[in-house]
Amino acid sequence: MSAPPRFALGIVPTPLVRVERLERVLGCPPLHVKRDDLIGFALAGSKTRLLEHLIGDALEQGCTVLLTGGGAASSYCAGAAVAATAAGLRCVLVIYGDNTQECHPNLALARAAGARVRFTGAAARESVDAILAIVEAELWGAGERVYAVPRGGATAVAAVGAAHAAVELDKQLAAARIDAETVLLATGSGTTQAGLVAGSVAAGCGWHVVGASVSRPPAEAEAQVQRLADECAALMGTAATGSDQIDVRDARGPGYGAPSDAGERAAMVALHEAGLVLDPVFTAKALAMLPTLIAEGAHGPIVFWHTGGIPVALAHLVGKDSPT
Ligand SMILES: Cc1ncc(COP(=O)(O)O)c(C=O)c1O
Repeated sequence: MSAPPRFALGIVPTPLVRVERLERVLGCPPLHVKRDDLIGFALAGSKTRLLEHLIGDALEQGCTVLLTGGGAASSYCAGAAVAATAAGLRCVLVIYGDNTQECHPNLALARAAGARVRFTGAAARESVDAILAIVEAELWGAGERVYAVPRGGATAVAAVGAAHAAVELDKQLAAARIDAETVLLATGSGTTQAGLVAGSVAAGCGWHVVGASVSRPPAEAEAQVQRLADECAALMGTAATGSDQIDVRDARGPGYGAPSDAGERAAMVALHEAGLVLDPVFTAKALAMLPTLIAEGAHGPIVFWHTGGIPVALAHLVGKDSPT
């Protein structure tokens, strides 16, 4: 696989650990967790892998500022801000909503890293897209060389980071003689899933990737994953992915950002049985998809990809915690 340059941020490989107590409680086949929550960069989880290639590309293009956006609670935005600063770039974030909303730990982290924040003034996530274009033009007009990235880091360059992660996992599985059947992860923008699929196809991995879509209807998410996987494969010069390799399930529950009952239960079981901290927006809803896979007959070892989200998990627990 060839690739855009990597600007190293994370500590890889991240551990792959079996969680037998959790496995027993969930009544599932051997369950292993890919601990990207431990990746060691700005609590950014798997997004660190995507940012390594975005930053590498930005530096190669001689850019001076990284421009991207999302929500105030976005681990990706916080990670982007810290990564840009670590690479000597300025960072501008376009955040939906307005600055009267309560400050989230991830936004505080982004600001502490030096990011300039522009609020869209509208509650819709999509409001970021138009303002990104406006801010990009302003920055170019002010003499900056802008590296503009859509919400979630959803580009083929970013997906290359996840493609390398697929190879990393496959080596760990081979070394531990684990014949994994399924890899389960949370899917938002679809970038991580796209890269994992492109990487696993390129490396001939024997496992199947299932994305638990937390924000888009599955058909829409599948189209996005397919597009990004194809673009990622083209960039790496590897084989295209077939549509049978793109598997996205509906994990939205009551909607993006709203905790689901199943997710809340999954988060508590994972915490109590395996010491895993899961966030209500992504990772908890993904783990809550496990019973569906088991009911469908999954019997080989399963890998749950813990994509991070620790600041969101803690903010959620603080919000729920009422002194007695
Ligand atoms: C913790 C966590 N898991 C999963 C995802 C989804 O990743 P992607 O946007 O690449 O689908 C995100 C995205 O922000 C995230 O923060």
